[in-house]
Amino acid sequence: MLLLTHGFAEKFTLSSCRRNFVSIFATQLNNQQSDQQVTLKPHLEQNKIFEIISEEVDKLNIKAFVIGGFVRDLLLDRNSKDIDVVVEGKGIEVAKAVAKKIGNPKVAVFKSYGTAMFNYQGLEIEFVGARKESYNRDSRNPIVEEGTLKEDQDRRDFTINAMAISLNSDNFGTLVDPFDGVACLKQKIIKTPLDPDITFSDDPLRMLRAIRFATQLNFEIEPNTYNALGRNKKRLSIISRERISDELNKIMLSPKPSIGFKLLFNTGLLHEFFPEMVKLHGVKVVNGMAHKDNFYHTIQVLDNICPNTNDLWLRWAALLHDIAKPNTQRFDKKAGWTFHGHEVVGARMVPVIFKRLKLPLNEKMKYVQKLVNLHLRPIVLSKEIVSDSAVRRLLVDAGDDIEDLMTLCDADITSKNPKKVERYLHNFKIVRQKLKDVEERDQMRNWQPPVSGKDIMDTFNLKPGREIGIIKNQIMEAILEGEIPNERAPALDFMKQKGTELGLQIKDQQ
Ligand code: CTP
Repeated sequence: MLLLTHGFAEKFTLSSCRRNFVSIFATQLNNQQSDQQVTLKPHLEQNKIFEIISEEVDKLNIKAFVIGGFVRDLLLDRNSKDIDVVVEGKGIEVAKAVAKKIGNPKVAVFKSYGTAMFNYQGLEIEFVGARKESYNRDSRNPIVEEGTLKEDQDRRDFTINAMAISLNSDNFGTLVDPFDGVACLKQKIIKTPLDPDITFSDDPLRMLRAIRFATQLNFEIEPNTYNALGRNKKRLSIISRERISDELNKIMLSPKPSIGFKLLFNTGLLHEFFPEMVKLHGVKVVNGMAHKDNFYHTIQVLDNICPNTNDLWLRWAALLHDIAKPNTQRFDKKAGWTFHGHEVVGARMVPVIFKRLKLPLNEKMKYVQKLVNLHLRPIVLSKEIVSDSAVRRLLVDAGDDIEDLMTLCDADITSKNPKKVERYLHNFKIVRQKLKDVEERDQMRNWQPPVSGKDIMDTFNLKPGREIGIIKNQIMEAILEGEIPNERAPALDFMKQKGTELGLQIKDQQ
């Protein structure tokens, strides 16, 4: 067990620690005698809640510790949204006493889990009794038994998440780190405290958590722990899709999600819940002609888009933009490998994937679908000397998502040849300029035709019917093609002309 000393903390200021744990905190820890104790007291003193908890647990004669993500994030200089407090006794009782002390009447109690929580200054503070848990193999319901701090730490997911800091006044601030989580932070390692087969069997979601932390923190998964991921992958079947997608989304929101996707693929975990992505992997060769590996291309596109957006759904569009390539891939003797229509088929796959992964089926999904569907259009605009009408059409189809679409297109450039990259980026600059010019001139974004269905019905004294759609479409086409201006009067004249051609009679002349 690594105990951190008091004396060390006196030399050690909060700002220096929080600036960079790995370089500053760890170096100082290295110089400590292993039998000395170091305290994180100055850090706890930053938030009054710890002192209040300390007073209350002393009064109740109960041992209490702040544990898990808060401790890890404190040492890594990351912000925490919640504080988990583990007590050797009744968590609910302590929560109520602390809440009373701070005058907070709203305590949420979860009796069956023995936990209680309340909000304090924007932080969620949760209290739980230390427990030795064993899980029912076929469900996620733990059989909870009271235990000691050490037993509780044994049952946690990773060494970096099993560190605790004492809150009782006799050793307030002392780090209790039985599995050397500090060393793992320093070495950037994800490792289970116990045999990984036991830890993952307790809660198979932890396999995804291992990959998620490795991705968020850019840590390595220790080999023994890594090998257990593949061995236990089938256990993921007892985990709800919502929990799986929560972890997947956290990987997607990391600075470099490809780290996570490679780990998911190589361990076989991806195969358990995302077969469409697995299908992207691999290269076929015919007549010596190979196509690119769409799995690695996709995760490169996802990485590329990350510095330019934190929007989860734009990142999802990057992940799914080529998802239908395996389904549409053909080999043509002249043209080589083709993926005709992959954007249309891909857009159709989006709801199927979102539904299975329990992702929202609302406008977020429609947005992803739209970007997948449109992702080739700017390339077409860049390749040819295009008419304004093609630019207008894209503006109408993309609407307010046009910038996001261009961000996706920039990210889609994954060529290793810097000259090509430069050329493609330059082409997209031209496309952006064309979009800007046409938009300024015609204001086609979120465009509504200047003649409505009602206008057509009124003019020809019609009931709702197919003719209205036909005429509306002809007006829209004429404006997009630049045959008539985007104005009401010429559009009304054009409407009358087209209606007459269809054999309709104008009301006034009936
Ligand atoms: N924990 C665990 N097994 C899980 C989930 C959580 O052992 N499947 C433990 C870990 O000690 C973890 C703590 O519970 O640190 C709190 O979990 P949670 O709030 O889900 O995660 P954090 O580690 O706080 O990280 P994040 O907030 O980024 O999810």
